[in-house]
Amino acid sequence: MSRVSLRSLTLADAPTVLALMRRAEGGLGRLPDEMDLPWMEDAITGALAGGLAIGAWDGASLAGVIKASRMPSVQFQHVLWDLTVAVAPESQGQGVGARLFSELLATAATLTPRIERVELVVREGLTHAIRLYERIGFRREGRFERRFRLADGSCEADIPMALLL
Ligand SMILES: CC(C)(COP(=O)(O)OP(=O)(O)OC[C@H]1O[C@@H](n2cnc3c(N)ncnc32)[C@H](O)[C@@H]1OP(=O)(O)O)[C@@H](O)C(=O)NCCC(=O)NCCS
Repeated sequence: MSRVSLRSLTLADAPTVLALMRRAEGGLGRLPDEMDLPWMEDAITGALAGGLAIGAWDGASLAGVIKASRMPSVQFQHVLWDLTVAVAPESQGQGVGARLFSELLATAATLTPRIERVELVVREGLTHAIRLYERIGFRREGRFERRFRLADGSCEADIPMALLL
């Protein structure tokens, strides 16, 4: 989707981001009723403190978000983790996710101290997301068996992935 424009999120975007994340079913780490405004505000504040949080807008409407936090402690501060990406259902499959990652990596390259590693975790069944992440350059680093519980009560493995900058 070439018409989306990207910019850093602010705390004022929290209600809009919350509404999008509640609709973006798939592999997010919380169910819609586990997401609330204080949690969303904390998530954006935490990501912006050393990491990044970016939104993709299609006109006035939010089409997608990506955020990742810098790991605390001097030994790990070159690492971005706790990455969340979510695209509005009606905007999925149009390249918004890829645009968000490309902006995340470009912005990460400007941060100080330097970012050398970006981590994410994705459930095994999200094969379209894993294909996207591998296309971008993320590599699988292992497998957490039976980690993600699905709505039907069964469990799926979670796949830790990382991209080295
Ligand atoms: C994962 C996600 C961020 C990808 O963003 P996107 O903008 O749809 O990504 P792209 O348009 O670049 O498409 C990536 C691939 O996914 C496919 N795809 C996108 N949406 C899809 C959907 N709802 N169902 C199945 N495949 C889908 C695309 O066709 C493309 O496939 P390809 O690799 O064969 O070409 C998005 O699907 C999403 O927000 N999902 C819900 C939240 C979520 O699961 N986040 C990830 C947690 S790890």
